[in-house]
Amino acid sequence: MKVVVTGSAGLLGSATAKYLAEQGHEVIGVDRKDGDLTDLAFCDSVIAGADAVVHLGAIPNPIDVRQYEVFKNNTVSTFAVFTAAAHAKCKIVVYASSISAYGFAYSDEWTSPVYAPVDEKHPMIYEESYALSKEVNELSALMWSRRCDTAFVALRFPWTNLPDKTLELARRFELENTGQVLNEDPRFPKGIVAKILWTYLDLRDATAGIEAVLEAGLAKKVSGSSAYVFAAPDTMAREVTEKLMSSYHPTTELRGDFSGHQAPLDSSLFIKTFGYTPKYLLDRSLI
Ligand SMILES: NC(=O)c1ccc[n+]([C@@H]2O[C@H](COP(=O)([O-])OP(=O)(O)OC[C@H]3O[C@@H](n4cnc5c(N)ncnc54)[C@H](O)[C@@H]3O)[C@@H](O)[C@H]2O)c1
Repeated sequence: MKVVVTGSAGLLGSATAKYLAEQGHEVIGVDRKDGDLTDLAFCDSVIAGADAVVHLGAIPNPIDVRQYEVFKNNTVSTFAVFTAAAHAKCKIVVYASSISAYGFAYSDEWTSPVYAPVDEKHPMIYEESYALSKEVNELSALMWSRRCDTAFVALRFPWTNLPDKTLELARRFELENTGQVLNEDPRFPKGIVAKILWTYLDLRDATAGIEAVLEAGLAKKVSGSSAYVFAAPDTMAREVTEKLMSSYHPTTELRGDFSGHQAPLDSSLFIKTFGYTPKYLLDRSLI
């Protein structure tokens, strides 16, 4: 299939473009060096003639730039990409949402899930514009799905990275959790790992999962607009989840078995719908 990958110079976009090309798809990668995704004419020009779009171009957190920039870039670019995909009669658009949309990750005030495992029905209780932009994008997809036959699938990713980067973060949390002094690192604000509920996804699972969604879209197995939590089934912590949740998120109602290292995220809908289960799990003995 002919697929446009936005954000192709970025972490997820470069891995996805490479993986899809290796699987034999015709891939057109676009990033800032090619044009600005907030520009509809640019989106139209690159998406015309494509069967599918994987939209991964965005500012990926609310830390580096001001709230306004995050909101404007991420929502306007996504609306333009969806508009162009609808115009080009693409069969499917897969796009990155985030578990940050729930509000635990980047709220200034400590925010805990209402219940765990967190699923697609969990309310979004954010107070910053990165999370807001993700929810707005899901609403934009809903609107476009009512105006065209393109299927729109949002993947709510947790921390998604290469295994060594996940290990680095896991070790950081282990130090923090055992009361050891941490060097300040602007990439990893204090508490961030507990705020993302210790969840992760290996980049290889992300790319393979994206391809599974594309194939479902091409086969018309999905339609309309839908969103899925898509994470590894376990955490990046040494401590069992039950203990972590009672220490860091004591108000959360636990609705499952957390006596082991189960992720407090529920990816079962994704697995059931697309038939792909994450398989690249962190080797906890290395933490
Ligand atoms: N990596 C993660 O842990 C993670 C977790 C959850 C969600 N996400 C989401 O996945 C997507 C990709 O994230 P990433 O980690 O690869 O980020 P990244 O910063 O590595 O890549 C994003 C790319 O998008 C490009 N981009 C941004 N705005 C653009 C614009 N207006 N026009 C053209 N290009 C633009 C950037 O230049 C960059 O290369 C984002 O939507 C992010 O919010 C990522």
